[in-house]
Formats: sequence, C-alpha cells, structure tokens
Amino acid sequence: GGGALVDTFARVHRDLRISLTDRCSLRCTYCMPEQGNEWLARESILSLDEIERVAQVAARAGITTFRLTGGEPLLRRDIVDVVRRLAAVPSASGPVEIAMTTNGIRLGEVLPDLVAAGLGRLNISIDTLISERFAALTRRDRLADVLEGIAAAAASGLRPLKLNAVAMRGVNDDELVDLVAFATEHGAQMRFIEQMPLDAGHTWDRAQMVTREEILRSLSARWDLTPVPGRGGAPAERWLLDGGPHSVGVIASVTAPFCGDCDRLRLTADGQLRNCLFSTTEYDLVPILRGGGTDQDVDRMLRSCVHGKLAGHAIDDPSFLQPARGMNAIGG
Ligand code: GTP
Ligand code: 5AD
Ligand code: SF4
Repeated sequence: GGGALVDTFARVHRDLRISLTDRCSLRCTYCMPEQGNEWLARESILSLDEIERVAQVAARAGITTFRLTGGEPLLRRDIVDVVRRLAAVPSASGPVEIAMTTNGIRLGEVLPDLVAAGLGRLNISIDTLISERFAALTRRDRLADVLEGIAAAAASGLRPLKLNAVAMRGVNDDELVDLVAFATEHGAQMRFIEQMPLDAGHTWDRAQMVTREEILRSLSARWDLTPVPGRGGAPAERWLLDGGPHSVGVIASVTAPFCGDCDRLRLTADGQLRNCLFSTTEYDLVPILRGGGTDQDVDRMLRSCVHGKLAGHAIDDPSFLQPARGMNAIGG
C-alpha cells in the first residue's frame, strides 16, 4: 500500500470513472441493442455506502476526479446524495472534483440540486440537432428533452461545459459545423469522438469510421484551426476556432490513441474495477465490500488493477476482441 497509483508504464492514475447504473433512457445504436441489454440485477448494484468506501480509498491513493457515468447516471434515484457524499471525500490534494457524463435528459430538473451538492463539471452527449435523426439514432424521440438539459447546463455556469458527439458516416457527418456553432452559442466546447468497437451488435467497421482527419478537414472549411498544446491525461486534442476564445475537441481513440497518457480507472455499477475501456480482465471488489474486507484490501485490489494495465488497446490487432460488457455497462 501507500503512494500513488502508478502502473508498470509509469502512468499515474488520477481519474476514477464510476458507473452508477447500466440502464439508460436512450438506446443509441453505437452502444446498445434496440431491446436493451440484460440489465444487471438490482442487488448486484453497489450501494452509495459501498461506492463511497471505494472512493475514499481511491482518493487516499491519489485519485482526484470522480466522473459519474452510466448507462445514464441521472437514472440513479439517489444521484444527488451520490454527488454530495463523493464531493465530501477527502483527498490528499484538496477537494476532489466531481464530474458527470450524461445524456442530458431530466438534467434541468435536478441540476440546481446537483450543483448545490457539489457537482463541478458536466459533459453532455448530443450527436445530432435534427429531431428525426436523433430519434433514429437513439431509438427515442427525445431531442427536445436533451436540448432543455443543455440549456440548463449552460445557464448553470458550470464550466468548462463539454458536448460530445460520436461522428458517424451518413448519420451526422454533415452536421459537424452546425454542432460546433450550437455548442459555442451555449458557451460549451464541442468534441467529436471517433467511434470505437464497443457496440452491442459488433457492427463496427474501421473503414466506415469517420476519422480525426476527416473531422478536421470538414471543420477547416469553416474555421481556421490552431492546435492547443498540452492535454495532460485528457483524451481530447483541442483546436482554437479562428484564434479563439472558442475551441473544438477531437477524441481520436482509434487513429491517434492517447493510451500513453491514460490516467483512468473504471468502477462498474456491479463493483468491478477495470483498468481500460477494452480490458478483458476485471477486478472484483464485491467479496471485499460484502465479505468483511478491510480498506487495505480495497487498496490492494486497486493496486492489482493498476498493475495489470496494458500499454494500450489493441483495436488494430487482428486478434482484437471486444470486451464482453457493452459500453452502457463500462461507462464510456
Ligand atoms: P474530460 O475529463 O472532460 O476530458 O472527460 P472525458 O472526455 O474523459 O469523458 P467523457 O465521458 O465525456 O467521454 C468522452 C469520450 O471519451 C467517450 O467516447 C469515452 O468513451 C472516451 N473516453 C473517456 N476516457 C477514455 C479512455 O480512457 N480511453 C478511451 N479510449 N476513451 C475514453
Ligand atoms: N465509441 C465512441 N464513443 C462512444 N460513446 C458511447 N459509445 C461509444 C462508442 N462506441 C460515447 C457517448 C458518450 C460517451 C460517454 O461515450 O456518446 O458521449
Ligand atoms: Fe486508457 Fe484503455 Fe482508453 Fe487506452 S483504451 S486510453 S489504455 S482506457
């Protein structure tokens, strides 16, 4: 025990992504099948007390950001308490940061309470601004609800506010400029994501993927792009639009992976630690949390997980296998 969470490639881990539920109010094609997945059993979902305990040990080991994910984290009924309790977790270097990645639905209703509870930062997913497209992509006709959530986030003053879109050929690749304009109007940073092989249908096709290259080419037609140096452990590369102040980000996990700088660990809603989005191994905290284990046991499991981390994903490997869990159960 003791010391930071450093892996065998000298990467220091500071960011813990906590999936609060595998359920979601949408059914995005790149994430879940139409009928949804077989949901995790209710009793296997970690309680707030259990999550808080892992978070306390993780913060002592140098984690400074907890990012709440899902599924859709706002579906968790105790979401405000989750934020409040995690925001109060002591860390070695001042207060922890609480961030959330959400689809934005119902955000307007709960945002004041979330902010009061200590939420610091929001990333909201929005892949298209066209209602029919949104309904086809997410299999739910709820664009208006998402737009309401984004408006509430913009008004809340939480910054930086980031909007995420997975760039998809023939789906939204003609909307990139419009999405950036929409984001800037809301004081938000638009980020385009290369699609990763994590869809339930296993239909991902590298040749079909909209690449970082193409994204930059289509944005260049409208703006002069200046690269912003230094991204730390953040997955997005950024460019200033016409010299700033607004910027756009690209998360090129496939054609320009940032694995060498990865500072993330993941905790699934059912208590499994993962050292990578794509890992095929999980580190089970449940026997410790529910079997009378000590905080030291939790710490040891965190360290085993970090120690087992590979140099990076192997998407380009002919032998690449998608993880058994869907994106909705990993937490993005
Ligand atoms: P910031 O801290 O605000 O930069 O958050 P983020 O971009 O890391 O988180 P977000 O949940 O908004 O995720 C945006 C995209 O980045 C999603 O497609 C995630 O799957 C992807 N992403 C986040 N972390 C990782 C990671 O460690 N590896 C890879 N390959 N992708 C990641
Ligand atoms: N590839 C890339 N990003 C994905 N996301 C979900 N599935 C994929 C995928 N297959 C994104 C969501 C959300 C974030 C958490 O992950 O759009 O913005
Ligand atoms: Fe980290 Fe794995 Fe993502 Fe690479 S693919 S950045 S190692 S989580």
